[in-house]
Amino acid sequence: MSAGAPALAAARYRVLPGGTVSGTHTVPGDKSISHRALMFGAIATGDTRIQGFLAGGDCLSTLAALGALGVRIERPRDTEVLVHGVGMDGLKAAAAPLDMGNAGTAMRLFTGLLAPQKFNSTLVGDASLMRRPMQRVVVPLAMMGAQIRTHDGRPPVEIRGTPHLRAIHYSLPVASAQVKSAVLLAGLSAAGRTSVTEPAPSRDHTERMLAAFGVALEREGRTIALEGGQALTGTEVAVPADFSSAAFFIVAACLAGVPGLTLTNVGVNPTRTGLLDLLRRMGADIRVHARTVSAAPGAEPVADLEIRRSQLHGITVHESEVPLSIDEFPAFFVAAACASGETQVRGALELRVKESDRLAAMADGLTTLGVENQLLPDGLWLRGAEGLTGGTIDSRGDHRIAMAFAVASLRAAAPIEILDVANVATSFPGFVELARAAGLRIEAL
Ligand code: S3P
Repeated sequence: MSAGAPALAAARYRVLPGGTVSGTHTVPGDKSISHRALMFGAIATGDTRIQGFLAGGDCLSTLAALGALGVRIERPRDTEVLVHGVGMDGLKAAAAPLDMGNAGTAMRLFTGLLAPQKFNSTLVGDASLMRRPMQRVVVPLAMMGAQIRTHDGRPPVEIRGTPHLRAIHYSLPVASAQVKSAVLLAGLSAAGRTSVTEPAPSRDHTERMLAAFGVALEREGRTIALEGGQALTGTEVAVPADFSSAAFFIVAACLAGVPGLTLTNVGVNPTRTGLLDLLRRMGADIRVHARTVSAAPGAEPVADLEIRRSQLHGITVHESEVPLSIDEFPAFFVAAACASGETQVRGALELRVKESDRLAAMADGLTTLGVENQLLPDGLWLRGAEGLTGGTIDSRGDHRIAMAFAVASLRAAAPIEILDVANVATSFPGFVELARAAGLRIEAL
């Protein structure tokens, strides 16, 4: 079992039809921001207090790894963390391989963070993570002079620490916030100016948070640059509720929000909220009530979302729209399956290398529920159905596939059983309880 995963996680869900969703709810803290707050706090000078921390398996893997690297971390409450920063040169060699659990973000960002250290490190993970591509971070880091070995581009990632990296300019072949972040983190320790150019915007939490820790970055168009040798200064991080977790309830409310659902304190960074644009184009009724945003550098925008049931219609999603809703496609495909007409997504090859092959997992599951669909090399086509059937779905151990099919129950005619759901706890601890409170008829078995 991966570090931090609960000992008694549910093995499967049984979800009955006939639910409606309503009320005012808050989903747990943002996963991407929680990982970064821990890592940046660790290499900062002074203390960092994190409020609204996601106490999910993935972020707990990052927390445990930083502990193994000699960082003292206190957790006065489940969602509050105090990181005693050790500074840029303060990390110490871990006694054993660092276990990243199910967390791709942790493995890729740690590769950038550990490549310039004075000591060696090995990164491992669970069965799903050990299959995921790491070459995408190894290539630019090797250009900087890092010495990293993988097994055919996959973990374990064996890093021979190389303190004097070279600054580079790197044009990312795919829009990936993880690769961008790994290069920028390594660039902090390199001599000179490191810059990355993205083919399309990806989430910018790293850029915002580095600014909050006092790092000077420059952005010009799709290029982000920083000078090596800058120190981070500990700060306060308020983590908003995770838009990617909210996504399941946004879609649930589009399908069955009677009279309506409100989600509070949701992070609405525009590099994350592509799903709102897609759903609105499908006819969704979603209102965004912006909360006052702190004027501090790097602050993340936050809002309350109000969603009502509406009749959706199918749309075409283009490649340029994919990165801004990359983690939301499982939920999106459920919305599309319940919409009138056809939906097609192309240019989404990245979905094949997430925690599972999400295109194949969704295609299989939707077929089980009676939705006509066609798996494309880089996407999915489907025709929305009047109603879904029930059936047994294999989530392939992928948290987002499991939660998406739980939402599908709102339009199903018979129970849906979802297998292999323990990893929901990696990103959304308390999902079943919150789903029940909102009105889903879900049971963990
Ligand atoms: C993440 C970036 C995305 C996303 C992942 C979290 C991050 O991955 O899918 O869940 O926190 O940087 P890619 O960078 O591979 O697109």
